[in-house]
Amino acid sequence: MTLPRIFFAGAFACLGIYLFASAPEPLPDGVVEVAGCRHPVNAVFDGVNVINEVARTIYTKRIVGGGKAAGLKFGEDWQEPGVEQGPLPALFLRATAAHMETLPPRLGLYLGSDAPINKSNLFGAAQMSVFKQIKTSREAVYSEDPQSGFVAMYPDVAGVAPCVTCHNEHPDSPKKDWKLNDVMGATTWTYPTSEVTADEFLGVVDAMYASVAHTYETYLSKTAGFEAPVKIGAEWPREGARVLPELDVFLDEVKTQASPAVLQALTRDRRHPDGRSSQDVLAVQADGGQAPCGF
Ligand code: HEC
Repeated sequence: MTLPRIFFAGAFACLGIYLFASAPEPLPDGVVEVAGCRHPVNAVFDGVNVINEVARTIYTKRIVGGGKAAGLKFGEDWQEPGVEQGPLPALFLRATAAHMETLPPRLGLYLGSDAPINKSNLFGAAQMSVFKQIKTSREAVYSEDPQSGFVAMYPDVAGVAPCVTCHNEHPDSPKKDWKLNDVMGATTWTYPTSEVTADEFLGVVDAMYASVAHTYETYLSKTAGFEAPVKIGAEWPREGARVLPELDVFLDEVKTQASPAVLQALTRDRRHPDGRSSQDVLAVQADGGQAPCGF
């Protein structure tokens, strides 16, 4: 046996001993054994969903609403060269989701429907049956499916008239009688494991903020080539003010509004690896016991 072979044989033997002696036991439902506190994936979904809702609302009301009053345009072809437009809210979400797919956390996001304008937004069979529940309950539903792992769906409601008119008038819309307050679809999140560590939780939150920032920045850089200039600075657009807030101003607003709910999601329902909940751990502490789980 030559030297390198001996070396590799030794290395594999050590690895074998390591795997035999200390590799974590695989757990059911995609749970990975970790030393610290675990957070249920549903709390992660609730946290990122708030970021998405806040970003979409600020974008819809203040950028699209204010921007239209200032003479800016928004449409489906906004990314085409020579088109002086910004993304529609649904496309803002789609661009954000597309960017998130390029980042390490395996978080999936899409806006689906049972009667979509864009056929690629049609729910698959498993998700369609969950969506039926949402249409009546109008509440988030958490489920599992063999393809995506863990899934959370939040209803997407026609909260303002333009949702209804634009979809009803759209040539590709298979449904022409949407009404105000209808559940038009669902914001759908997927993640492969049932629980995450605090680092993984924050990694997902960071990825979501970074993706929102990336989409907004793409829009801002597009406006730099517009024939009629748009001033980028501290102000938000409104009638008579053809301006857009710079990236930091936009992102700060999203973070300010979303942070309390994100923190609430991060601090609720924590579980110690031995199965104790955050409530149990607090009780142990009150009795003068050890403070595991980051308390
Ligand atoms: C100006 C037009 C317009 C407005 C306003 C609008 N949408 Fe859409 N919406 C679209 C288009 C176009 C798509 C397809 C985008 C794509 O290619 O994925 C879409 C996609 C969607 C989808 C995914 C399913 C599908 O139809 O492809 C949902 C759900 C949705 N919109 C809900 C809403 C809601 C709720 C509102 C109001 C808050 C709204 N939309 C406002 C044009 C609009």
